[in-house]
Amino acid sequence: MSVLRTKSIEQSIADTDEPEYQLKKSLTALDLTVFGVGVVIGAGIFTLTGRVAHQMTGPAIIISFVVAAICCALAAMCYAEFASTVPVSGSAYTFSYASLGEVFAWIIGWDLILEMFLGASVVAQGWSAYLGVLMENFGLPIPAAVGYGGVVDLPAILLVVALGVLITVGIKESMRVNLVLVAVKLFIVLFVIVAGAMFINPANYSPFIPEAAPTEATAGFSWTQPLLQWLTGSAPMAFGWSGVFAGAALVFFAYIGFDVVATTAEEAKNPQKDLPVGIIASLTICTVLYCAVAFVVTGMVNYTEIDPKAALASAFVHHGQAWMATLISAGAVAGLTTVVLTLMIGATRIIFAMSRDNLLPIRLAKVHPKFRTPWMISILVTAVCAITAGFTPIGVLEEMVNIGTLTAFILVSIAVVVLRRKRPDLPRAFKVPLSPVLPVLSAVICLYLTLNLSLETWVRFVGWMAIGFAIYFAYGYRRARLATGAALPHDVQAAMDDGVVKRPEAQ
Ligand code: ALA
Repeated sequence: MSVLRTKSIEQSIADTDEPEYQLKKSLTALDLTVFGVGVVIGAGIFTLTGRVAHQMTGPAIIISFVVAAICCALAAMCYAEFASTVPVSGSAYTFSYASLGEVFAWIIGWDLILEMFLGASVVAQGWSAYLGVLMENFGLPIPAAVGYGGVVDLPAILLVVALGVLITVGIKESMRVNLVLVAVKLFIVLFVIVAGAMFINPANYSPFIPEAAPTEATAGFSWTQPLLQWLTGSAPMAFGWSGVFAGAALVFFAYIGFDVVATTAEEAKNPQKDLPVGIIASLTICTVLYCAVAFVVTGMVNYTEIDPKAALASAFVHHGQAWMATLISAGAVAGLTTVVLTLMIGATRIIFAMSRDNLLPIRLAKVHPKFRTPWMISILVTAVCAITAGFTPIGVLEEMVNIGTLTAFILVSIAVVVLRRKRPDLPRAFKVPLSPVLPVLSAVICLYLTLNLSLETWVRFVGWMAIGFAIYFAYGYRRARLATGAALPHDVQAAMDDGVVKRPEAQ
């Protein structure tokens, strides 16, 4: 038995035709774009931008956003090619199972679980922080012990549970809620750009790239210094060009989520066309908005004075516009909701795909007869996210989310080239131009960004991967359906089915 065994594309697609495991096919290109924007614009722009500009880049954060966008655009094209070739649930995981082999598929799946679980929990806490600010502005402060940073983060738990109910009941319903919240969020972001432009002071743009400076009083070793600096033996530094690239590795978080669109491939009406459109459209919209927001905010307030916690709202307070700040906080509360929702949906879909292949227990993949959603997984995801967001101080673990995602991107980029060689015959509605140059460039840039993440993040990531390998070799390696040759187990189904599951009508 080889850890490099691959699952054929035909088998992946055939599996989705098994009625017990089939999801509703209801999403259009517009739904997917809204879904993408819904998950992409979130804590990254509302909170991280301020912190990175203040501590690492100054106004040059705009360059960081562009670097991260280039990285994402390349990876997005690779995702789009795969999503249009293998339109089944599970995104990068499924793609790599078909091209690189099982162990790589497992690594990617495990990374994506990290991205989405931790991402949803991090953003839920960010949401709770903004809610705290908003309630205080309304004169109804949340008691410290049960608010953000308290003993229990009750608002974060309530948010995750409410969203968990939504995703269990059905994806179309979740999409409707998403649409309203995305509209509110876009309005707020545009408001920041237009209203903020009036308060720009051009003097704040100089120096545009502040000179590099040591980050610690004692030059030497620091767990928070980028791996690359440590490898090259340089002292921990911020700002300058190295700050711009370290900043890019961090603001990368703001783009995370467009890949989640690919995880809903199985639920798209016409995945071949709609997925590439959905992925690339949402990424383009977000890049333009981010650069504009970064330009406005670093123009409104000198980077040395930017508030690292709630930069957007504080920039308006700085100019005496308190009501605008309240409006922005309210928008952030709405905006972050959709991010948590979408990441939770993404997490359920990845686990769904992995358990359908029996790399995780197959019983988890059962679809609810009425709601047609993988309800057991939804409940599991909700419980773990609620506990993580409610009881752990994870608000600053964006870097962990980034490293998991970047690793998945590297493997997806390589997998595009591999699948072109292995299966040139497959119809591809969308192809990455200039392959293999662009996919390889994508992998190289992603790798470079991971090297700009901190040492402590690398150590944690190695730990996460070690746990993943332990689970794979203890369970999936022997039990994978690919290894046992088992069909989707109707016998297991018969034992656990509580009734006949009908195929959805009129697809
Ligand atoms: N891109 C998402 C955010 O910024 C994860 O919150």
